[in-house]
Amino acid sequence: MLILGIETSCDETGVALYDAARGLFEGRTPRAGLLAHALHSQVSLHDEYGGVVPELASRDHIRRLLPLVREVMDRGGARVDELSAVAYTGGPGLAGALLAGASVAASLAFGLGVPAIGVHHLEGHLLSPLLAENAPAFPFIALLVSGGHTQLMHVSGIGQYALLGETRDDAAGEAFDKTAKLLGLPYPGGPALARLAEDGRPGRFRFPRPMIDSGDLDFSFSGLKTAVATLCARHALDKATRADIAHAFQEAAVDVLVAKCVAAMEHTGLERLVVAGGVGANLKLRAALDRAAASADFDVHYPPLEFCTDNGAMIALAGALRLSAELRDSRSGALRFSAELRDRRTGALRLGTDPSIMQAASPHCAFTVRPRWDLSEIVGS
Ligand code: KG4
Ligand code: ZN
Repeated sequence: MLILGIETSCDETGVALYDAARGLFEGRTPRAGLLAHALHSQVSLHDEYGGVVPELASRDHIRRLLPLVREVMDRGGARVDELSAVAYTGGPGLAGALLAGASVAASLAFGLGVPAIGVHHLEGHLLSPLLAENAPAFPFIALLVSGGHTQLMHVSGIGQYALLGETRDDAAGEAFDKTAKLLGLPYPGGPALARLAEDGRPGRFRFPRPMIDSGDLDFSFSGLKTAVATLCARHALDKATRADIAHAFQEAAVDVLVAKCVAAMEHTGLERLVVAGGVGANLKLRAALDRAAASADFDVHYPPLEFCTDNGAMIALAGALRLSAELRDSRSGALRFSAELRDRRTGALRLGTDPSIMQAASPHCAFTVRPRWDLSEIVGS
């Protein structure tokens, strides 16, 4: 069962080929099914603008997608007519960028007569640690930390996600990016800030740890960014000072993320934590979580670094897991890939398989433009 995965939600074009028979069955690790993946990053395209320009992003996805699909099929040693399904990011993301991926996926699937599976971008991130050698078993707590989201989820299985807490304003990655901008660093800010922070002296500055004692599992990062802005206005921003500020910011952000993870583990009594999304690539965060896990006695799992930020492999894997879950359902008589869930015009499966989502979706769209929507809305799908 071969699944093509397509990710185009923001500024990376990711494509991957996944063989569910090699990766999901017979006790094999999910990673074993990943036959090939390729990524084109648009960093150099957006660099001079200091952030992602949506129109440029969409146009570049259009240029890159088909060559990447061909490359991945060649490297994976398969033909497109052997595909069982095409999975693509259905949202959240930039509208034009999503449209590029959804159009290619829906057209390809329609032409081949196979399902097009719209995957929630965060579900891809959430499942990406299954692509590591040491894949976590369900249930687990997931910390999703990307440029648009910061959430703690209780994950009982595929499609069984409950939101425990989330940011009330900026996402963690957004805070890294905005702080990086204040410090004059190039886009993308998170990795640049982390590099600068390595030269910072500990203890020169200290920023607040927003909501660290709030007693719930929510986050807030916009005040932290404002605290950095206020400090920047009061100091001459020579290189050493900028590094010290970056260091202090990273410490504060990491402290809050770690404290909330520990609280979530205590609150639920689960034994495994999974960290996913771009900020999960931050090595200070990983080191601090490893220390916390050792002292509070839980396991922590990360995706391989290359699958922390956006990629096609996580979308292909999520599609494969959904497809095999659906097939299992169909054997027990609960086939969910039913005709009314198909778009009348394209024949593509619309995003998610839950009728309530279908009602909310516009009748002819295969992706959604809502900027943030809760993963738990696709529960049971
Ligand atoms: O998951 P992702 O690639 O895209 C979204 O779904 O948003 O995450 C991108 C975010 C950006 O905000 C980026 O600055 C941040 O992840 N990021 C990092 C690091 N690498 C990426 N933040 C801190 N440290 C890093 N090493
Ligand atoms: Zn992402």
